[in-house]
Amino acid sequence: MKHPTGRWIVLPDATSVRDAALQRLADAATRAQAERGVFHVALSGGSTPRRLYEAWRHLEGFDWGRTEVFWGDERAVSPRHDDSNYHMAWETLLRHVAIPSASVHRMPADSDDLDGAARRYESLLRSRLGAPGRLDLVLLGLGTDGHTASLFPGMPSLSETRRWVVATPAPVIAPRLTGTATLFNAAREVVFLVTGDTKRHAVSRIRSGTDGTDALPALLIQPRDGMLTWLLDRRADASDNAVP
Ligand code: 6PG
Repeated sequence: MKHPTGRWIVLPDATSVRDAALQRLADAATRAQAERGVFHVALSGGSTPRRLYEAWRHLEGFDWGRTEVFWGDERAVSPRHDDSNYHMAWETLLRHVAIPSASVHRMPADSDDLDGAARRYESLLRSRLGAPGRLDLVLLGLGTDGHTASLFPGMPSLSETRRWVVATPAPVIAPRLTGTATLFNAAREVVFLVTGDTKRHAVSRIRSGTDGTDALPALLIQPRDGMLTWLLDRRADASDNAVP
């Protein structure tokens, strides 16, 4: 049995989840920029964060000049492809804000050598984060099969304990680059965004604790010395009193 840790916050709807995530980003950025002069954030892919990114670009007073953006995972497609996590974040957020281009660290999953690309991205992370290598905030989603980032059930990436970034096959869309649980669990904060009826079954499996991490990779995410927050809307929540 492996029960999820962290705070579970169930909100009325996806807009409330978006707004709560925006507040977490603003707070984490303010703290990081005050304490270390820079905010290192890893973006999630998929469709759930779109609304967050669209709102984030309007966030008054956010200091993009002292923010560096990374990705938690990326599909092996062109950065101009609709399936690209970079493309989605660029179109909804990054092209609209005054972030220096040198602070946008795209995962080069369009490389012919995915393993080499994973090693290069890990080197980049190590150089930008310095020791001990802690992202300030990682945004993650939850797949209907319990995956997160591109950590998919049954894949070797789930047992990787040394590397921060690996190449992995994926059941949908394309092979991937993904951060590992080692990278995510070193973060100062991890925020899951989970909305919609399609996630209820995965959420119920996670909350029941009956499945192991091989079947439910999202359970691997338990930051050692960081804050973990699950932001769900009522439609995704599978607790007893949930009213979809
Ligand atoms: C990816 C994402 C992935 C995503 C979940 C949820 O590259 O596919 O990183 O982990 O967060 O699959 O996706 P939706 O938000 O589209 O439901």
